[in-house]
Amino acid sequence: MIAPFRAFVVHQTDSGFKMGIELLNQHDLPADDVLIQVAYSAINYKDALVCSPNGRVARASPLIPGLELTGVVVESADPRFQPGDRVLANDSGYSMGVARHGGYSEYARVPGDFLFRLSEGVDFKQALVLSAETTAMMGLRQLELLGLTPQSGPVLVTGATGGIGSVAVSLLARRGYTVAASTGKPEAHGYLRQLGASEILSREQTSAASSRPLEAERWAGSIDNVGGATLAYLMRTTKKGGAIAAIGVSGGALVQTTVFPLILRGIKVLGVDMPSTPLEMRRELWQEVVSEALPPGLVDVMTSEVTLSDIPKVAQAMLGGQTRGRVLVKLSDE
Ligand SMILES: NC(=O)c1ccc[n+]([C@@H]2O[C@H](COP(=O)([O-])OP(=O)(O)OC[C@H]3O[C@@H](n4cnc5c(N)ncnc54)[C@H](OP(=O)(O)O)[C@@H]3O)[C@@H](O)[C@H]2O)c1
Repeated sequence: MIAPFRAFVVHQTDSGFKMGIELLNQHDLPADDVLIQVAYSAINYKDALVCSPNGRVARASPLIPGLELTGVVVESADPRFQPGDRVLANDSGYSMGVARHGGYSEYARVPGDFLFRLSEGVDFKQALVLSAETTAMMGLRQLELLGLTPQSGPVLVTGATGGIGSVAVSLLARRGYTVAASTGKPEAHGYLRQLGASEILSREQTSAASSRPLEAERWAGSIDNVGGATLAYLMRTTKKGGAIAAIGVSGGALVQTTVFPLILRGIKVLGVDMPSTPLEMRRELWQEVVSEALPPGLVDVMTSEVTLSDIPKVAQAMLGGQTRGRVLVKLSDE
């Protein structure tokens, strides 16, 4: 039996919303097969919503948020995992940290199906960068299935300094694409160039309203983490036959556009839905991102570390578009 441990817990009840650090016991965790001592979790946009009174995505209370975590197996009733194994737990935001306890805790108990074993050479922080890269990879895979190649022309990443945006810029650059990045952070241009962007657009430019249904053809493809007016911009400016991988909604859900980009340029809007992506496919994407090794030093450039007590402040900053790269929550010493 493990000693009482610290966890960040969100309560949303009829009497109101509260969150903070609590001392829990092993029996407070779900009765799943694998007990993990958590090394790091991460703050994703959806986590930030869970930690916000108006987020409306949490489906349980009390809830330990944290869509993903890395750590070491302490006990396992699942024959695939043994104590001492280093693992990533991620069910792509379907239930962990939303409908059942997640990673903002010194210990977590999860089903073996959520786990990806970390191979030699992949440390806990790298694993959480690669975990975000599986979503970017899913978007890129869909674009490439439709014929996108580095020769097709430039590819634009929107919300480029965000967790998924950052890995998308780097992934595209490593694959030889000419990458343009759109950001609302003028101070982050150097960061984006370091990740591999060769052109930077302002968020104003890529979310401007326009009465024109079609504008000059610019992008062979795009990975869109923003949605809203930005998705409408991408539709107006995607080259004939090009495609958009629609991943995110950080700029809003309402898209005002016309049918003309679809029927006069044959562009495609490809939705990425990781929570519904079958486990086999997610394991395939994981193998793919692990095999495309991250350049040395990239993890340090792309990550920042916070503690459990920083979560409320960082969640608000993330919802305001103020965070950069992958924000990792440190739970224990490696
Ligand atoms: N489809 C799926 O399966 C799936 C999976 C995972 C995540 N997601 C979604 O993908 C999106 C990105 O997730 P993330 O974890 O990378 O979030 P994140 O780290 O918060 O990044 C989002 C980025 O979007 C930009 N942004 C924020 N507010 C904006 C606004 N009002 N208007 C325009 N741009 C804004 C900011 O980048 P700049 O400052 O650089 O512009 C921000 O860093 C989220 O909407 C998330 O829910 C979807």
